Amino acid sequence: MMDAVWEELHASRPWGKYPAETLIRLAMRTYRTPEIRAQTKVLELGCGAGANLSFLLAEGFQTYGLDGAPTAIAKAEARLRPLVKDGQTLDLKTMTFEELPSGTEQFDLIVDHFAIYANPLTTITQTYDNVYRMLADGGRFYASVWGRQTTGADSGVMIETATSQNPTCGPCKEMGVSHFFDRPEIEQLFAAWSELTITRRLTDEANGDTVEEFIIWAQK
Ligand SMILES: C[S@@+](CC[C@H](N)C(=O)[O-])C[C@H]1O[C@@H](n2cnc3c(N)ncnc32)[C@H](O)[C@@H]1O
Repeated sequence: MMDAVWEELHASRPWGKYPAETLIRLAMRTYRTPEIRAQTKVLELGCGAGANLSFLLAEGFQTYGLDGAPTAIAKAEARLRPLVKDGQTLDLKTMTFEELPSGTEQFDLIVDHFAIYANPLTTITQTYDNVYRMLADGGRFYASVWGRQTTGADSGVMIETATSQNPTCGPCKEMGVSHFFDRPEIEQLFAAWSELTITRRLTDEANGDTVEEFIIWAQK
């Protein structure tokens, strides 16, 4: 079940407005022309208030987003609807990853920017399986997840290996269920995919935190 903390967070404060630089680079390198982007269907899982979708819309992609927090979807709808151009799709839904439909809709690109990590491993595994199913052949998946060297990864109540319920420090402090990955785990989770690149970024933050991120780019 999705952590209730997200609806509280979205309702109580504004969420980030700006898209992820790593996603911008990979998306624009892969889908190079406006003509290609106009034929590319992108779904963001856990889109929050629409920071990444705002970039994808502006660059001409066909956009779909879902999030389990109704306030996040309402905010994304209010912000993004005015940006939709003729011939463009913006389809936003309140839905949890556990409720993903079994339909045959196929996407060319699915995006997870720090959303799927916020779940227990059973949900994470199931969601990655659904991502694979929902991608067209040759479709791509972008994901960013936290690494185990991140401050707070082993704090709070550990509900299973590398999954904390409310870390007590670091970037996931008091943000509900958080799973922290390592490279062998990612390689194992994506073993069935045809292409996989994993980029690791380690940042020493000014506040003393260490942040380890993995950027996953995989092709069906
Ligand atoms: C850290 S925020 C990231 C939001 C957005 N991707 C961004 O980069 O601005 C995580 C988002 O994932 C959503 N989320 C987490 N677990 C979910 C689940 N099981 N089903 C649906 N949404 C979920 C939360 O509601 C929240 O909006």
